[in-house]
Amino acid sequence: MTRARITLDRDYTVGDVPRRLFGSFVEHMGRCVYTGIYEPGHPSADADGFRTDVLDLVRELGPTVVRYPGGNFVSGYNWEDGVGPVEDRPRRLDGAWHTLETNAFGLHEFMAWSKLADVEVMQAINLGTRGVDAARELVEYANHPGGTYLSDLRRSNGAAEPFDIRLWCLGNELDGQWQIGHKTPDEYGRLAKEAAKAMRYVDPTIELVAVGSSNSGMATFGEWEHTVLSHAYDEVDYISMHAYYQEFDGDAASFLACALDMDHFIESVVATADAVRARGRHSKRINLSFDEWNVWYQSGRDTEDQLHRVQESGWREHPRLIEDEYTMTDAVVVGTLLNSLLRHGDRVKIANQAQLVNVIAPILTEENGPAWRQAIFWPFARMAALARGRILSARVAADRIETARYGDADVVDVSATWDEENSRVALFLANRSLDDAAEVEIALHGFTPEHIVRAEVLEAPDDADRNVSNTKDAERVRLQPLRGVTVSDGGVALRLPALSWAVIEVDVAV
Ligand code: AHR
Repeated sequence: MTRARITLDRDYTVGDVPRRLFGSFVEHMGRCVYTGIYEPGHPSADADGFRTDVLDLVRELGPTVVRYPGGNFVSGYNWEDGVGPVEDRPRRLDGAWHTLETNAFGLHEFMAWSKLADVEVMQAINLGTRGVDAARELVEYANHPGGTYLSDLRRSNGAAEPFDIRLWCLGNELDGQWQIGHKTPDEYGRLAKEAAKAMRYVDPTIELVAVGSSNSGMATFGEWEHTVLSHAYDEVDYISMHAYYQEFDGDAASFLACALDMDHFIESVVATADAVRARGRHSKRINLSFDEWNVWYQSGRDTEDQLHRVQESGWREHPRLIEDEYTMTDAVVVGTLLNSLLRHGDRVKIANQAQLVNVIAPILTEENGPAWRQAIFWPFARMAALARGRILSARVAADRIETARYGDADVVDVSATWDEENSRVALFLANRSLDDAAEVEIALHGFTPEHIVRAEVLEAPDDADRNVSNTKDAERVRLQPLRGVTVSDGGVALRLPALSWAVIEVDVAV
């Protein structure tokens, strides 16, 4: 048995919960769009070809904002290919994923889908093969009410009202050698500034995300952010971050502590952005858009094999790509990554789990078959629904576990929110230990805890097999009631099973 004492105080808050922290990502990649969210002819498809079984699961998952259409895909994409009569749209080679793109699904289809899914759209533009002109034209097409060639073209394509897209990504991972149109930090910084300027001339109300490093291991990490922001500080609002985690060589302890790396990454980018702010005597702050994050078995399992197989089998439509099956361990890690994002909600204002369906996703589908929830679905769904109001700053005194990659970590990881309107505190807890349950005491200063509204734990069935995953036939990793949670004047006490993720909601008086 391990122990953790968590102290929360009504007066110590990080800030309001940024609702855009619970974002997701739909890329034209593998089967995310085609046979994922869109499959005309599927028994559940509506008149527009949207899978309603998937829409139901997306609504249950509850993302608030969805980034589109890539990813690496966007760096070779012409947005014009995806508008107008479907029969006239060109078939193209997508070099990023070695895929035949039919363009049957494009901007209008995504806007219609996003309304049904009740999500905000975060639109990425192509700054790989294209530039300022295509960027400003897309803003005019999407957001200008009418009376110009491009806005009237949108209207004649069936959308009388502007799409009113607020949030835009100025390209994707342009620091990466693999990216179509890869750039140096100076090249990208200048381009981002000019594209941003021209886009804002069309619509001054938009919010803009500059591309940051593809991951913190990039040779240019730090220098990239500094240079890009030195060029474009006044023109952009956010700098992006991407990170994917996986277990290496059976080292589950390190994997379970990888949120420490996310903490460090976030704090480093904040420091870099603030250094540019100081140097340039800027008054505004640049916030962070963690617009790709997840568990992704990029090496070890079969990502590289899959990409080679796709290349060898020629150009095909929507091949299976990186359809990782997530285990109980992955779900606990996802819970801790969400905790890290929430704990940094004063500066991380947007985050997108990559991706939404089939491609490293919480939802899987079969073509002409069912859709189901992966293990990682649950921490996201509960946090998206229940993290409301203000983020509480948590003080943790816990037993520590040693890890080879990230040093010592608290055995219990936590984030917490206080929804003043509904007099409710929500706690999101993970036990990183593979072997030991944890006795957890949560002191709630400035609150009088009244009763437990919800106590759920995500556990593998029966024997706590850390590698168990859900399948289309059985969702074996799922939330169960967490028994034995007690409330006293001082707070809440509970026992977290080994390798588990839990959510507790407490009604409080203040
Ligand atoms: O999400 C999968 C891919 O990962 C994205 O296309 C790219 O931006 C990142 O490298």
